[in-house]
Amino acid sequence: MSEEGGIDRAEMEKRTAGLAAVDLVVSGMTLGLGTGSTVKFFLEGLAEALRNEDVADIRGVPTSVDTEHRCEALGIPTMDLSEGVTLDLAVDGADEVSPDMDLIKGLGGALLREKVVVQAASRFVVIVDSSKEVRVLGEQAPVPVEVAPFGWSTQLPFFVSLGAQPTARRGTNGAMVRTDNGNYLIDLEFRGGIASPVDLEAALRARAGIVETGLFLQMADRVLVGTADGVKVRERALV
Ligand code: A5P
Repeated sequence: MSEEGGIDRAEMEKRTAGLAAVDLVVSGMTLGLGTGSTVKFFLEGLAEALRNEDVADIRGVPTSVDTEHRCEALGIPTMDLSEGVTLDLAVDGADEVSPDMDLIKGLGGALLREKVVVQAASRFVVIVDSSKEVRVLGEQAPVPVEVAPFGWSTQLPFFVSLGAQPTARRGTNGAMVRTDNGNYLIDLEFRGGIASPVDLEAALRARAGIVETGLFLQMADRVLVGTADGVKVRERALV
């Protein structure tokens, strides 16, 4: 669907959400910089804010080689994660957001670094277009799982035993896709959605050879949803 000069609705919503996150950045902050097509708008907006001197003294930790390259091209200063560093704010996209603000992430393949960055940040803000809101996780996106290459195919029957239909992610040449960390990715499809994301996460994380999952449960503090009418803000309920 093409609207308004060729930019489709999802792109406009991603842009709206990405630029809204720029407003949360203040001078001196250290940032976690996510990966994907929504984060692209955030990075562009951040670069413009730096150029206009609306903010200064910003440094960000990129969650992927792709984001690192974008930062280089846009002139956004980057830094490494090191001992004792707490990032002020992590901003990243998502593939699905549940009513409880649980997430599926990682269709872009950067889930491991994304989760490490989020857990090193004091605040995590998610930016999405409205198509990412679901009633039940797994309703429309698979759960990406990063696995060690050694014996990777032995994981497949395990995934099936959990009710998933696993698909190994391959490139156009048929070779297994490797993450920035040199691992493989398996996408787990759950027909009708995931009954208990907490139980699924626990089962996956208890298995040797599974490096990380794309389930980001109760990690998001705020979700900025781009809509045709502007930004919808969702906050995590404090218990
Ligand atoms: C990257 O690994 C992912 O976690 C992305 O954040 C997620 O796939 C959302 O990407 P888009 O913003 O491109 O939809």
